[in-house]
Amino acid sequence: MWRTLNVALGGRSYPIVIGRGILEAGDAFAPFLTSKRAVVVTNVTVAPLYLSRLTAALERHGTAVASVVLPDGERYKNWETLQRIFDELVALRAERHTPLVALGGGVIGDMTGFAAACWQRGAPLIQVPTTLLAQVDSSVGGKTAINHPQGKNLIGAFYQPRAVLIDTETLQTLPIRELRAGVAEVIKYGLIRDSAFFEWLEHHIEGLLALEPEVVAEAVERSCRNKAAVVIADETEQGERAILNLGHTFGHAIETATRYETWLHGEAVAVGMMIAAEVSWRLGWLTENDVARLEGLLIRAGLPVRGPQIAVEEMWSLMRGDKKVKEGQLRFVLLKAIGKAVICAEVPQEVVSAAMRHRLG
Ligand code: NAD
Ligand code: GLY
Repeated sequence: MWRTLNVALGGRSYPIVIGRGILEAGDAFAPFLTSKRAVVVTNVTVAPLYLSRLTAALERHGTAVASVVLPDGERYKNWETLQRIFDELVALRAERHTPLVALGGGVIGDMTGFAAACWQRGAPLIQVPTTLLAQVDSSVGGKTAINHPQGKNLIGAFYQPRAVLIDTETLQTLPIRELRAGVAEVIKYGLIRDSAFFEWLEHHIEGLLALEPEVVAEAVERSCRNKAAVVIADETEQGERAILNLGHTFGHAIETATRYETWLHGEAVAVGMMIAAEVSWRLGWLTENDVARLEGLLIRAGLPVRGPQIAVEEMWSLMRGDKKVKEGQLRFVLLKAIGKAVICAEVPQEVVSAAMRHRLG
């Protein structure tokens, strides 16, 4: 059975459907196919795995499918690739009502989403995420973007999809390292607003990594529920939505310092969450046992709990360039308890430095 939840955003509301075999079931797509044609945007890795299955399912439903197959990698999440999507849409004579279907991980989802936001001032977008990270995070909530040479996701738009259709079977072909990186974001939801989910993960982490179907479905649903609740409360990140960035300010600095070459985003976020937890402990909010529980769970998930050797001064300099800086002030997402994140501007610099020093190198 498929699980369905609703992202309630008034006229921009949409369902998230989670289940096995959704890719092959045109039924799941039918309500969102607003024209007789659809354009699937994917990449050279995902296309050989899933494009023909999805195309066949849509065609069985009477939808003609064209595809745009892009190169694979974060380094292609840029203006040139976006232009290529538009060139292909022009060549295909895609219309304003032709849905764009993003089939792939977060890179494809973010880029296709931004293309949909711009194409003829807004084409329908269907997200079909195929990495765990994309299934629990990037496909939900409407953040779309490409990178600028000077920074990640600097050019983008909030643009909600018409539907997020999650076939959990696609995770079977995902490299284990990518799966673990997605698990970091799953653990994040437990930490920021759902202590019961954190505890559930402590009981089911091995089942999740082994891709036990019921465990995967439950983890994806509970993650999406948490993400949807935050997005509904603060769609354009005026405040609360920033809690979704727990560990990300530290994580981005680690990714930038290592030139995006050695650390996957989720791995850097895992270390970033450890630093945030340690700052929270030093402020007297988390107990030593809370920090140990997080460390234990990340280790069982096969994620790093210590970062590379980066000087604290370099971390500060990188973090001050983060998108989350507001009027020159860095804001940190910290934890009052497991399951309760807060956004803090006034954190003593030496407390943050001490936590970073302890966790890096
Ligand atoms: P990714 O899209 O690069 O996918 C990781 C790798 O897995 C790629 O090589 C991809 O081709 C491959 N892949 C995808 N699905 C597969 C499958 N089923 N089987 C085998 N291989 C598969 O990376 P990601 O971790 O999915 O996403 C990272 C991106 O998401 C970043 O660009 C980040 O900025 C963005 N992001 C966006 C949001 C948001 O709210 N929009 C949130 C978090 C991250
Ligand atoms: N991944 C952060 C957000 O969606 O806000």
